[in-house]
Amino acid sequence: MSTESILVLGATGASGVAFLKYVLPLPDGPKLSLLVRSSSKLPQDLIKRYADKVRIVEGGLSDEDKLNNAMEGVTSVVSFLGAYMSLYYLITRSKPTPIADSFPLIKQIMKKHGVERLLALSTPAHSLPGEEYTWPQYITTKIFPPVVVPQGSAEMDAIGTICADENFAYTIFRVPHLTTGTGEERVYAGIYGPDFKGTQQLSRESLVRWVYEEIQEGKWIGKQPALGNY
Ligand SMILES: NC(=O)c1ccc[n+]([C@@H]2O[C@H](COP(=O)([O-])OP(=O)(O)OC[C@H]3O[C@@H](n4cnc5c(N)ncnc54)[C@H](OP(=O)(O)O)[C@@H]3O)[C@@H](O)[C@H]2O)c1
Repeated sequence: MSTESILVLGATGASGVAFLKYVLPLPDGPKLSLLVRSSSKLPQDLIKRYADKVRIVEGGLSDEDKLNNAMEGVTSVVSFLGAYMSLYYLITRSKPTPIADSFPLIKQIMKKHGVERLLALSTPAHSLPGEEYTWPQYITTKIFPPVVVPQGSAEMDAIGTICADENFAYTIFRVPHLTTGTGEERVYAGIYGPDFKGTQQLSRESLVRWVYEEIQEGKWIGKQPALGNY
């Protein structure tokens, strides 16, 4: 078995579950630690089958004791966390960022446990200096999300900002529209500009393969690539 032990945040979401489905059956796969609000949202059959590789801690992102339990023996933290669409925030236009606000504590507990590697899901709402967009990219990444999902978009920008921390070996992977696929779809990673080959679609199955490869290879440490199938 791999010596890697990954704390997965957002394991109950669609991308988190896709990650569990991909890595747990790998013969030389990592151990997983899952900090979840409710374990009933996890895929029960899968978890039962690979129980020897999985530790589940039920708790919120700001529960220090639970975070300490979940961080025990961990080598990397990967976050698939993100806000749900909300009619309330669409109407009120308010933009609280409870997930991003929990990362200072998460990073503090990572430091305490000697965990350096942090990978976090964000979106192009978190843009980088010097990026250039085509009009379709601009509309789908810079206009549509902040208008339709103002709070979720603010959360993505704040997660990107707070996790791109030079005190950690971070990778911020910025995702476009997430779809369902086989996992075989090719993933382009790079910065928006004339050379960017990715589309505005990314299957979660190909995303999680990219993330696991990045945990193993560390090609994008200290970087914030935008991803897209191509
Ligand atoms: N769908 C798209 O096309 C798209 C495109 C770009 C970006 N995104 C962003 O990417 C994220 C991941 O996408 P997804 O569809 O795989 O995820 P998802 O199914 O929306 O799952 C979100 C995950 O975040 C957790 N979460 C949300 N708010 C939380 C909070 N306050 N405290 C603790 N955990 C919290 C959820 O936990 P619970 O299960 O406990 O609720 C769940 O595990 C989305 O949340 C979205 O913000 C989505």
